[in-house]
Amino acid sequence: MDLSSVADQLQTSTAVGSADMAASARRAPSSSDPLWWRSAAIYQIYPRSFADANGDGVGDLAGVRRHLGYLKDLGIDAIWFTPWYASPLADGGYDVADYRSIDPRFGTLEEAEGLIQDALALGIRTIIDIVPNHISDQHPWFQAALAAGPGSPERERFWFREGKGRNGDEMPTNWESNFSGETWTRTADANGTPGEWYLHLFTPEQPDLNWNHPDVRRMHEDILKFWFDRGVGGVRIDSAALLVKDDALPEVPNDPGPGGHPTQDRDELHDIYRSWRSIADSYPGTRVLVGEIWLPDIDRFAKYLRKDELHTAFNFDFLARPWDADELRDSIDATLAAHAPVDAPSTWVLSNHDVTRPVTRYGREDSSFAFGKKRAGIPTDLALGARRGRAAALLTAALPGALYIYQGDELGLPEVEDIPEDLLDDPMHFRSGGVDPGRDGCRVPLPWSGSTPPFGFSPDSASAAPWLPQPASWASITVQAQQADPSSMLWLYRQALRIRRALNATSDTSFAWRELAPHVLAFDRGPDFLSVTNLSIHSIDLPDNGGILLCSSPLDGGKLPPDSTAWLRTQHEPPEIRA
Ligand code: GLC
Repeated sequence: MDLSSVADQLQTSTAVGSADMAASARRAPSSSDPLWWRSAAIYQIYPRSFADANGDGVGDLAGVRRHLGYLKDLGIDAIWFTPWYASPLADGGYDVADYRSIDPRFGTLEEAEGLIQDALALGIRTIIDIVPNHISDQHPWFQAALAAGPGSPERERFWFREGKGRNGDEMPTNWESNFSGETWTRTADANGTPGEWYLHLFTPEQPDLNWNHPDVRRMHEDILKFWFDRGVGGVRIDSAALLVKDDALPEVPNDPGPGGHPTQDRDELHDIYRSWRSIADSYPGTRVLVGEIWLPDIDRFAKYLRKDELHTAFNFDFLARPWDADELRDSIDATLAAHAPVDAPSTWVLSNHDVTRPVTRYGREDSSFAFGKKRAGIPTDLALGARRGRAAALLTAALPGALYIYQGDELGLPEVEDIPEDLLDDPMHFRSGGVDPGRDGCRVPLPWSGSTPPFGFSPDSASAAPWLPQPASWASITVQAQQADPSSMLWLYRQALRIRRALNATSDTSFAWRELAPHVLAFDRGPDFLSVTNLSIHSIDLPDNGGILLCSSPLDGGKLPPDSTAWLRTQHEPPEIRA
């Protein structure tokens, strides 16, 4: 499929409606390419909030299976599921009690297997989340460690230590938690007296595993095989740069230097991922390893992507940057430059289940993102944010590499900032003493249809309300409402993903900036595609082109208005005519 035929199809589908658009998306190729992951569009599902089939107010796998057609029509190549395993949900499922079973609120293992196969039949691969840094405190290993007491082999799978100070009542280190607050919790011995402390970089319900222990390594290798055997196309590795700790437990130095931090980015990690890679490579097809790696040092970041380690890792630098041409250009340049030497594709991520939704973020005066900076009540202009969110969607979709789309971003959902305190769930909020609003605002159940909550998220006969309340104003942005509106965010995403697929089929990594005007990001991809994003405050003339493929906002007298992206063909004649 070349760009001109996509453009023709788009014109047809715009005229005749979404049924044709869907039919045409179904024709798109996707499934047999071993390099699928290099340019894949990957849709992130937060199962709790995607769709609730059984009416208990919590999303489930049966709900996902019902909506696979929606995802196919959207034009994605793979789904990444945040954890779906048995879990007390102390941290939204990132506290896994059993990696080999599905939480009963979400369904059964059999349903997960069915879902993986149903999705594959539509050409959609499944990526699951592996959480190797920590485990639930309810996992049998941790329960056994507590029961077995100090000095036992059961405790060696974790980080149990005597406290400091006269009665051992000071923590072994003063490391700070990624969720603010302390990283050690004191246990009680069998007779009730205060005993050893255990390490948890996140909540006390998520004790850290000791990766020097062979059981820990073996268990994770078995988990990988368990899921690869069930047909998953890859794993997203949670907190991938945190697993290994300096077992001398030093305090964090002022300037740790490369590999010198006691809990982050330690050199020993690379061996772990080499062994995971050899497991992935022993399976037919390409099973990908995707790291969640938040590291300011982009060259250290790229080391994880050497060819015998991870396939890709999330590029969070881009989403942390404000809506500013120099900042975004700098991020794109740094990202492409760091990935080139290891020949790994970049990933482009506008949001996920941990960060403020783009529509809200880009409407703020300071549109950058950083953990620890989130506060309730920061004003935002949602109309401006939505406009920029549309422009950003096209900008990122045009860049070479893989693209991640967090559920609901294709609907332009804003962050929900007025969830009543007693309904909030995220430990990040509570551990900050209520200072950080937490991440619930980007995890509100999706609106599918109808004019009042639960907006088709749960069936009409549901016995419970959605686990987080949906704003009444979402009536105008349900999937149903947007399907009927060619100017909607949903249509923009569908069209963008179809053009992107054709673009990547013809031009893998080619990319070249074009200087058009100040505060404008324009780049060519291959011989017949140009993306132009206007971050200035003036409308700009578009360069000579062979037709507009897609635009995030209507043109203003032929000009591209501020906060908009246009995709253009650069050749005047379709290639087949020239030939
Ligand atoms: C990752 C997840 C986040 C989770 C944390 C601890 O950052 O994305 O949601 O809370 O790890 O597992």
